[in-house]
Amino acid sequence: MNKLQPPISVRPELQKYKEYIPGLSIEEIKRRYSLTKVIKLASNENPLGPSPKAVAAYKKAAEGIFRYPESRSIDLRRMISSGFSLDLEQVIIGAGSDEIIELLAKTFLTPKDDIVVSASAFMQYRLAADLMGTNVITVPMKGMKHDLKAMAAAATKTTKFVFIANPNNPTGTYNSTSEVEYFLSVLPSQVVPVFDEAYFEYAVVKKDYPSMIDEFFNKRPMVVLRTFSKVFGLAGLRVGYGIAPEALVRAMDKIRQPFNISVAAQVAAEAAFYDSDFVNKSVKMNEEQKDVLAGELTKMGFSVVPSAANFLLFNVQPLTGHVVFERMLRRGIITRSVDEYELPEYLRVTAGTPEENKKFLQALKEVFEQK
Ligand SMILES: Cc1ncc(COP(=O)(O)O)c(C=O)c1O
Repeated sequence: MNKLQPPISVRPELQKYKEYIPGLSIEEIKRRYSLTKVIKLASNENPLGPSPKAVAAYKKAAEGIFRYPESRSIDLRRMISSGFSLDLEQVIIGAGSDEIIELLAKTFLTPKDDIVVSASAFMQYRLAADLMGTNVITVPMKGMKHDLKAMAAAATKTTKFVFIANPNNPTGTYNSTSEVEYFLSVLPSQVVPVFDEAYFEYAVVKKDYPSMIDEFFNKRPMVVLRTFSKVFGLAGLRVGYGIAPEALVRAMDKIRQPFNISVAAQVAAEAAFYDSDFVNKSVKMNEEQKDVLAGELTKMGFSVVPSAANFLLFNVQPLTGHVVFERMLRRGIITRSVDEYELPEYLRVTAGTPEENKKFLQALKEVFEQK
């Protein structure tokens, strides 16, 4: 192995950078524990698999993969913009909504700016700011929810973005229409709120859940993020989208990789966008299975955080999330401990299929019976 020391070091902003820790893969756990069957309930993917319409389009696209993709994902942008009665120029497509979060940071944030997030907010906002050396103002959550009032009050003259995952990951909690309305009325006008709606299709069954695109987008400059990774079942393809004022889209488009969305990902996302049968079926199963899981976990004595997404967060004291996570791994079930969100006594589990959830609950019982 080449052990030569390179004469360069990483940027000073990155010296203390803590990377994102992704959920473990099924293959890795099979290998590590010599298991033949592993259930993954760690990354909030759709347990029913991908949208069948997307799979058909993906297969059909195979012959065309020797060509570079269309640079702007124009057909997908057109479909999304007309679906929401927006202008084409108000839509940006990213390799997952993660890419759009990073593009927002790379395009707009400097070491002189800051962003506001809540303490247990989805990690990528903080990481994107850290990448640019931007200060992060962290606001404690209130009852596991974003404290929108406190977040608006925390914004300073140098705040560019307030990031709000609604519902939030890893807590699953959401902020209501009236909370959001009040927040927007008191947020200083120079701040651009970013509403991350990765779990929108699951959350929208709640009557007081706000749809930012339909209800608020035209009222003040804001960014709304959505993804094909969750209910549409395309996490492995990496496609997300952002709705933003045209000037923001234009600036981000300038610096994004020219071919950021692959040929297959573009056509699969187009096919998935109107696969409402699959979305409805997925949301229905999620609602049922979340109820089953929450009910059983409560019976077992755990305190479960109410969730509007496709996962549940629950308190595993007197054990820690990490200990339970490790013990579950040995039983072939991948969940998620959330130490990095400063919730060491909690475990997050994605609502799986009925069979997966049964196995998860059985394994959890064994873990807590274990001395
Ligand atoms: C709140 C939230 N936003 C964004 C993402 C990123 O999704 P993707 O990059 O796959 O679109 C996730 C993924 O778990 C999430 O939970």
